[in-house]
Amino acid sequence: METIDLIEGEGIYAPINRMGGKQYLKKRIVKLIPTEGVNTYVEPFAGGGKIFLELPHPYPHEVLNDLDKMIYFMWKDIKQVGISSIEKMDFTPSREKFNHLKSMTKFSSPAQRLYRNLYINQYSYIHNNLSYFNQGSLQYKERLLKTIGKLKERLADVVILNQDFRKVIRKYDSPTTFFYIDPPYFETTGYGLDIITPEDVYNSLKNIKGRFLLSYNNHPKVRKAFKDYKIKRIKTRHSGSLVGTTSVWELLISNY
Ligand SMILES: C[S@@+](CC[C@H](N)C(=O)[O-])C[C@H]1O[C@@H](n2cnc3c(N)ncnc32)[C@H](O)[C@@H]1O
Repeated sequence: METIDLIEGEGIYAPINRMGGKQYLKKRIVKLIPTEGVNTYVEPFAGGGKIFLELPHPYPHEVLNDLDKMIYFMWKDIKQVGISSIEKMDFTPSREKFNHLKSMTKFSSPAQRLYRNLYINQYSYIHNNLSYFNQGSLQYKERLLKTIGKLKERLADVVILNQDFRKVIRKYDSPTTFFYIDPPYFETTGYGLDIITPEDVYNSLKNIKGRFLLSYNNHPKVRKAFKDYKIKRIKTRHSGSLVGTTSVWELLISNY
């Protein structure tokens, strides 16, 4: 098994954060993604899309999917809400505001929904979108406004979906498709969605025609399910973790 040592990520800014996000690994992962022969780039577990946003160039067709509705709507709304609406959003930290926004279930506009979701994502404990915690960046809005034009441009032709990963893999598979697969860590991360096992991920990928790169936690069941594929071990830190200094090994598995 090849081993890649720890190199700190530089932390290019992206507005959505997700537990298990690839902030610390993105530069190393992107280097392993093929640039030639790919017509369609798909992330069936998009989360905050750290890898997608780090790609050196767009592919002809691109798809971001996440089963979590809040994540799905953030991507969709970033595409459509105007910059002038985003300029008016107030990201001052407040527990009361957090609780008020969290209790909202109906929205008068995509801009209101985007504000609610970005605020909750920014000010929740390890970005779990559940309970208030003021770990937000003081420059959140400033950074958002600096990059929002570029981000909207980048997303203009990207298909945003809210489906189960299996359906998305079946739908987009072809010899010229590339999948970056970043499922919830097995037995460690819960997103309030159904548990996905390494066997589930294996079954969705075993017969595909396209190429895939899978990042997973270093669990014996993951190594067992993917024993016939190329596996690299890579050292990282857990993004979104309050014990962010502890380094851990992760696996990068591919069929190419
Ligand atoms: C490890 S995170 C992805 C992190 C992402 N790569 C980033 O950089 O932020 C896994 C994502 O899978 C989503 N997810 C969980 N179950 C899913 C399913 N059955 N189908 C599609 N997405 C799912 C979760 O909502 C979560 O956003």
